Amino acid sequence: MDRTQVVLSAGAIRRQEEFTRRIAALHRQRAHPPLAMVDTYGCQQNVADSQRIMGMLRDMGCGFTQEPGQADVIVINTCAIRENAEKKVFGVVGQLVHVKEKNPEAVICLCGCMAQQEIVAEKIRRSYRHVDLVFGPQALWKFPELLYGVYTEKRRVFSTGDEYGTIAEGLPVVRESGVKAWVSIMYGCNNFCSYCIVPYVRGRERSREAADILAEVRQLAEAGYREITLLGQNVNSYGKDLDRPMDFADLLREIDKIPGEYLIRFMTSHPKDAGEKLFETMAACSHTARQLHLPVQSGSSRVLKAMNRGYTREQYLEKVRLARQAMPDIVLTSDIIIGFPGETEAEAMETVSLIEEVRYDALFTFIYSPRPGTPAAKLPDPASRAEKQRWFDKLLDSQNRISAQLHQSYVGKTLRVLADGESGDGLWPLSGRTHGGRLVHLKGGRELVGRYADVKITGSNTWALFGEAL
Ligand code: SAH
Ligand code: SF4
Ligand code: F3S
Repeated sequence: MDRTQVVLSAGAIRRQEEFTRRIAALHRQRAHPPLAMVDTYGCQQNVADSQRIMGMLRDMGCGFTQEPGQADVIVINTCAIRENAEKKVFGVVGQLVHVKEKNPEAVICLCGCMAQQEIVAEKIRRSYRHVDLVFGPQALWKFPELLYGVYTEKRRVFSTGDEYGTIAEGLPVVRESGVKAWVSIMYGCNNFCSYCIVPYVRGRERSREAADILAEVRQLAEAGYREITLLGQNVNSYGKDLDRPMDFADLLREIDKIPGEYLIRFMTSHPKDAGEKLFETMAACSHTARQLHLPVQSGSSRVLKAMNRGYTREQYLEKVRLARQAMPDIVLTSDIIIGFPGETEAEAMETVSLIEEVRYDALFTFIYSPRPGTPAAKLPDPASRAEKQRWFDKLLDSQNRISAQLHQSYVGKTLRVLADGESGDGLWPLSGRTHGGRLVHLKGGRELVGRYADVKITGSNTWALFGEAL
């Protein structure tokens, strides 16, 4: 696909800003400034997208609320990764019918990955008639135009066409705090892991120009942001589609030159494209956190092949060895799927043995959920839910023990920790993150928020560390 068609023109963005101004003018005619509620499900990419939607809503003159009953515009940003995620959203959307009964003028929008699926859009069209606007992630940039259509034409609007996807620069944003920020470096996914819906709902891989990413990071560093997380479904594919090819390690090096007291984290790094160059670059860049999320999914080479992951158990373990060789103190985390169709108990136990071998600091664990339209959903799946649950529990037992042991080994040490927010807990009033990204419950004054502090680690459990700022 031609880059000129992928990166939206400044004119296209200005046209949306014009719709934003027209909506703001309509809002000004109301007795009270409108309130918007944005409810977000799914991964950090969705969180970042919601911050853009909030930016547009703010520019339309909206304030924000968490209460659906008070909102004039409700946006539900959805996730399609597992069936549970979808069920939850249908529950939430179903409840909104009561909001609409009380306030018929309220506009209800459904966006994100679920909205991009034809079967979901159809279900909303037929059975959830109180939803006014449905749009997929590829149409996010034209939210102002779509909302203007709902306002002025008094009809339901659906924008869920199957698109390759674009890159929109310069969209407004509302960030959650002055401490942490998300920066998308690419969109979409080309990997088509056989269980995964993402490539079908997020379009093809497309990278932002390095200059645009660098400008955004520079601006955040200057504004005092301390943690900047680079986002992409597979950041290691970054740059393959650029006119002047540049890889992710090159990008990290360029970012590292930007002055400031900030850390760079990134996710997700696909093991098939992670290698020595990346690890050595991470080790050499002082702004890059010693943290690597390297999702393995399974410890069985047979299952990995069926998942279309592009590496074997042995190749994966070799990457872990290289990462640790470059950065002995690296904090490693991973994603695991238990119960892929046709997986046997012995294969699931290969996953347990892999995590025992790697000793991850933490895991995100999932039981396989069939996604309609993906190749894996058509495979025979003889293992029962109860059996899969048993394997899953074994995996969790192992990981919980390992996490607790690794966390225990921090006790007594003094670490540099970023205090990133207030917790609301009287005993441990602050939350923080170590360089490697582990959660620390902190004792200390609120003036520490946004600052790095030397913290003495005094305790730990399976999920977190406890410490006191010195
Ligand atoms: N791009 C990332 C993953 C994004 S989805 C990567 O490739 O690592 C986050 C996680 O959800 C995946 O790593 C996987 O573990 C899990 N997942 C994806 N599809 C799933 C499915 N159908 N059932 C269960 N878990 C799934
Ligand atoms: Fe899904 Fe695989 Fe793409 Fe990750 S790399 S988003 S698991 S298809
Ligand atoms: Fe979910 Fe879409 Fe992210 S399916 S995990 S919100 S990319």
